[in-house]
Amino acid sequence: MLNIKQIPITCLFSAVLIATVNSGCADNGKIEKIQSFDTGWRFYAGEINDAEKLEYNDASWLSVNVPHDWSIEGHSQFQTKKEDAPEFNIVKGEWKFSKGDNLLWKDPDTDESSWQIVKLPSTWEEHSNYTPDNVYGWYRRELTIPADLKGKDIFINLGKIDDADETYFNGVKVGSMGSFPPNYVSAWDIFRYYKVPHEIIHYGGKNSLAVRVFDGVIGGGIYNEGEKITEGPFESTCPGGSGAGYINAGTGWYRKEFKLPENIQGKRVFIEFDGVYMNSDIWINGVHLGNRPYGYSSFQYELTQHLNFGDKKNVLAVRVNVQQPCSRWYSGAGIYRNVRLTVTDPVHIAHWGTYVTTPDVSGKEATVRVETKIRNQSVSAQNVTLEIVIVDEFGREAASSSSLQEVEADSISIFEQFIKLPEPKLWSLENPTLYHIESKVHVNGRIADASETTFGIRTFEFTTDKGFFLNGRHLDMKGVCLHHDLGCLGAAVNKRAIERQLEIMKSMGCNAIRTSHNPPAPELLDLCDRMGFLVMDEAFDEWIRSKTMFGYGQFFNEWSERDLADMIRRDRNHPSIILWSIGNEIPEQDNTNAYEMSKRLVDICHREDPTRPVTSGCNTPEAAVKSGFSKPLDVFGINYSMPFYQTVKGKAKLVGSETTSAVSTRGEYNLVMDSGMLKIKNELDNQCPSYNDTTAESTLKAIKDASWVAGQFLWTGFDYIGEPSPFSWPSVSSYFGIVDLCGFPKDRYYLYQSQWTDKPMIHILPHWNWQGFEGQEVPVWCYSNCESVELSLNAKSLGEKKFCDTEDLHLEWKVPYSPGTLKAVAKNNGKTVCTDEVPTVGAPVKIILTPDRTEISADGEDLSYVKVEIVDQEGRVCPNADNLVKFKIKGEGIIAGVDNGNPISHEYFKSSERKAFHGLALVVIQSTDKAGEVKLQATSDGLKKSVITIETKGNTAKIAQ
Ligand code: GAL
Repeated sequence: MLNIKQIPITCLFSAVLIATVNSGCADNGKIEKIQSFDTGWRFYAGEINDAEKLEYNDASWLSVNVPHDWSIEGHSQFQTKKEDAPEFNIVKGEWKFSKGDNLLWKDPDTDESSWQIVKLPSTWEEHSNYTPDNVYGWYRRELTIPADLKGKDIFINLGKIDDADETYFNGVKVGSMGSFPPNYVSAWDIFRYYKVPHEIIHYGGKNSLAVRVFDGVIGGGIYNEGEKITEGPFESTCPGGSGAGYINAGTGWYRKEFKLPENIQGKRVFIEFDGVYMNSDIWINGVHLGNRPYGYSSFQYELTQHLNFGDKKNVLAVRVNVQQPCSRWYSGAGIYRNVRLTVTDPVHIAHWGTYVTTPDVSGKEATVRVETKIRNQSVSAQNVTLEIVIVDEFGREAASSSSLQEVEADSISIFEQFIKLPEPKLWSLENPTLYHIESKVHVNGRIADASETTFGIRTFEFTTDKGFFLNGRHLDMKGVCLHHDLGCLGAAVNKRAIERQLEIMKSMGCNAIRTSHNPPAPELLDLCDRMGFLVMDEAFDEWIRSKTMFGYGQFFNEWSERDLADMIRRDRNHPSIILWSIGNEIPEQDNTNAYEMSKRLVDICHREDPTRPVTSGCNTPEAAVKSGFSKPLDVFGINYSMPFYQTVKGKAKLVGSETTSAVSTRGEYNLVMDSGMLKIKNELDNQCPSYNDTTAESTLKAIKDASWVAGQFLWTGFDYIGEPSPFSWPSVSSYFGIVDLCGFPKDRYYLYQSQWTDKPMIHILPHWNWQGFEGQEVPVWCYSNCESVELSLNAKSLGEKKFCDTEDLHLEWKVPYSPGTLKAVAKNNGKTVCTDEVPTVGAPVKIILTPDRTEISADGEDLSYVKVEIVDQEGRVCPNADNLVKFKIKGEGIIAGVDNGNPISHEYFKSSERKAFHGLALVVIQSTDKAGEVKLQATSDGLKKSVITIETKGNTAKIAQ
């Protein structure tokens, strides 16, 4: 990663540049070569004309800073109101239904006499006992449209249809969702809202409606009325469906005004976006710079030719278009990553122009190869000296090199330097040592450009028989997949939020991250370098055969090479990355041209970075082998399909690119009385039980037994917004996480800790507040990395159990419930090494606030995560408490978000109150850019309040713009 420090341009250019505050300059009057362009934007939710124009008046727009995700804030709600046209809710009532498929059935005069009369909404299993999978069926009904609407278009609300439909009005197709075979895509959870043009409507008379339906597996038909419920940022009829977490997106506009000092005329000015979700169009002073469909790609435009200087303003305008459904998970919407302005000399290091590799590494010496692209945008050839200094972790010069070359006018030259570095310190997970390269571009005796690039020195290898090796040492990848949202902050990138995610994962023993299923924010990779994580950097979730209606498939042919190459050019200096992934569960795995398609992308990866292997997460590995899809892959990524580890043993380098998909809700156990016994229900009130770890255990065991597999990336480390499988509305966020959306551990977190860490630990589940279940046998589980555990209730032993006596990765006791304290004593060699206790907790009495950090930077970005606990008289968390907690904040901080980890909560994430969920809630405090104190007060009816103070320190003076 080009990790370039902010280098004052006065060091680079001979002239001192005087600038005004809103010119994008530092307070000291020097313009920075690279400066944040994150503050001072205006935002408008919706479509609007002429907003790209310089003179457009945006005074009424919202003032925002980026990274910004408008959808999490609930702004998109205002957009969902469709045009002023009457809406007909037509699902409820009598329809005619026929099994089978005949395209002529779309016609108004179709003979329906033999058709069945059915009452909707209802699945065809329910109304017709029509049970086979992969089948078609048709629905028809008549509709009277009042004469007084004459000339008006109308909307029909068709609810939800399982799985794909084509809808005809008077024989004319008016809408369709999902895709029919052969490129079948389900849209089972997507709300159908189709516009019918006035030209085809018979006003005052009968109209025919015909719906052709294809069902993949179970469900079938028009099964849901599509009732619109709007709560918080969630809307049941959101076109993004459950994948999007029922959060609307749509179109949005951003504008930013800025001025540039006269004395940078002659320099080159660029704007760089780390990511805009999605389909951005960007203008400078009304001139269109370009369109970038993929919302996860980073990109740069040159502004130079179109700029104004001095008192004349410039306006950057960004249109973002998130047409849902476009993603299988919550994507966010907007300029959700950082933006920077770069001012350079005409001779400079090109964008992503430094590429560092270490072709030879030994304990004595490493050879560092530095490839630098020098761009000469001046009108004459230039003699350029490129000076490279390698700086060690203590800031000392470790080696250097200098190279002279002529760079033609208006061209790019590649400099290649090999530098010997004595006694290199290797990058490893335990000691993630980083070096920097300082590059200086000398032209005519002055420094025209300079940059800093972070890299690390390590070797690694995937093998077919023994898995993965880092620096010659065998290493099991204990990995998790992560989506990019940051819970209550939405998709808006925040470095501290990502750092905290990684800290939580690390404390569980995780050592690897898969950026599922898209290029991540650069901050994630910087952190993985620094904190010691391996990374699988993934490009796509789909190629041409789309998984969602408006997904990447529509852009793949035109953009895939560019998007993939850009990801690699941006990311290839990160020592943490050990795999490129060209895609997740790509439907083309079984295509006849699968080999050519996957080879094309693998070749691009090899061209851009010959030092790393390429993989792809295959969910149908057998088909992938048969079609040739897997042949070009350096490492065969297997999603689930664990028996396949054995099938391809010794034939390919393997990684469990995705595993597990266990579902649970923090604090839920789903214990119910059933036929006189206490039983665990798999699904109860849209919650999943914490005992639900069978796939987690079986995967851990399968990976342990398959020493030739490099390890696993389990689905998922954190819960994320969207994909609330196995449920849909009212569930809005996932159940797959090992920790919930707040980052609070579910019980499953301790299973992984017991398998992935050595420091003795023990954890008991469930809680011990089972009033009403007295005498009933409650399953009590313990996770531990010790040899044995002795469990007692109220100091009475319930027996000692050993892990060597069971196949399971947990120990279980059936304990007749009576209030008191469960205690687990974990032992090694018969000696107690650690203990855990779970008491029966009293009624809620007070709130306790605990910040993860009491001192944060006053930089307008830093965060303190404050845990909110509802506790009893003795300060113990009440496992069933759901009190509403209200927050007040004073001083130099704001509430950036609130949450409680409940996947069915519809409360706003951007709010100053939140209900507790199983005794816990979360408030995220963000600093302002002034140093000082932040006071947070939490109150709740009937509870003792709590107040905490956080210091915000060391104003690092974010550059004013
Ligand atoms: C996988 C897929 C993930 C997620 C997961 C849920 O097949 O790759 O993105 O959808 O299933 O179980």
